[in-house]
Amino acid sequence: MTESAREPTQQVATAREAFEREFERFAPFWGGVSANSLTLKQAEHLARELTELRARHTGKKSAIASCKKLIGRVAAEDRASFGQLVQQTEAGIVKSLDEAEQALKHFIETARVERESIDVTLPGRRPRPGHLHPITLMRQRIEDIFVSLGYAVEDDREIETDFYNFDALNIPEGHPARDPQDTFYTTDGFALRSQTSTVQIHAMQRRGAPVRMIAPGRVFRRDTPDPTHNPMFFQVEGLCVDRGITMAHLKGTLAEFVHRLFGPETKTRFRPSYFPFTEPSAEVDYSCFKCAGQGCRICKFSGWIELGGSGMVHPNVLRAASVDPEQLTGFAFGLGIDRTCARIYQLDDIRLLFENDVRFLGQFS
Ligand code: FA5
Repeated sequence: MTESAREPTQQVATAREAFEREFERFAPFWGGVSANSLTLKQAEHLARELTELRARHTGKKSAIASCKKLIGRVAAEDRASFGQLVQQTEAGIVKSLDEAEQALKHFIETARVERESIDVTLPGRRPRPGHLHPITLMRQRIEDIFVSLGYAVEDDREIETDFYNFDALNIPEGHPARDPQDTFYTTDGFALRSQTSTVQIHAMQRRGAPVRMIAPGRVFRRDTPDPTHNPMFFQVEGLCVDRGITMAHLKGTLAEFVHRLFGPETKTRFRPSYFPFTEPSAEVDYSCFKCAGQGCRICKFSGWIELGGSGMVHPNVLRAASVDPEQLTGFAFGLGIDRTCARIYQLDDIRLLFENDVRFLGQFS
């Protein structure tokens, strides 16, 4: 080699060494990448680095590209061998890069397929079966009993006019129940029904009389939430209008209802009360299903649990629904579903029923 080729040959060696130094960490992948040596993310990162390495060492501004420019400058007798050296060095660099790239590419493709494939031998994840809400379960039990006693089930609106919520139920102007402090009103003056008694009127208007129906549904009151009160809760209304209906029918019907719901030994108790839409009116209690009237935590040591309000349908209510009170009489009752549900499941607080905590609700399937 003449003097003119010594310096350029040195440059080629420097270029190859610089590449080898940087390529060293890819060397383990020349002969293929083993699956457990690398994560997919690491391999993808490495592939990006390899692309940059290729640009640095084989691109237009690379050291080997500068060496190519020297070929024309070395003495004529050295040109052929120097040219060959440059070409071989470049080919070696490209080969190393290609092999590492192939190995990484193969590894990445395999890892991606593995990640996306489903292992059919793994045990499946069982979907958690849902179930009905405890209030719905309670409502269905009540419906079943009354349907078997010959009652139809009515479903009606929750937003009412003053006529159905108050006037037709014999609740006079100025009665405290009409106060916005007790009843929710919409901005255009409709009331959210404060009791299911509104359905008495709708049912008689729709079906005429005689009629026998129950109407479970949501009602709304401006009650402050506490363990026995919610501003939204469920009631079930009952109405029976026919010729010759008396208080005895009311008592017999509710006695039969509690027998079927809590057991044949359950007793009922009627306490005089007042509702504008019934006369006479009575609060109905049943003997505690837990202690049979002896007194326990569930009945708050009284032996009795409140079921709801009841009474003989007021003649004004029958008239409001175009039923002649001289010909027909009837009884009605309204029971609180939430509180009954809470008693049966021994809950201390009816608010739990509306918190929708699946850990709580999951216990009532
Ligand atoms: C009434 O609502 C009458 N409409 C019942 C009635 C119907 C009487 C037909 C005569 C004839 P009262 O306001 O007592 O009555 O409510 C009935 C039941 O609803 C109560 O026994 C109680 O179980 C339930 N209840 C009342 N307020 C709430 C509340 N804020 N949260 C949960 N339950 C309630």
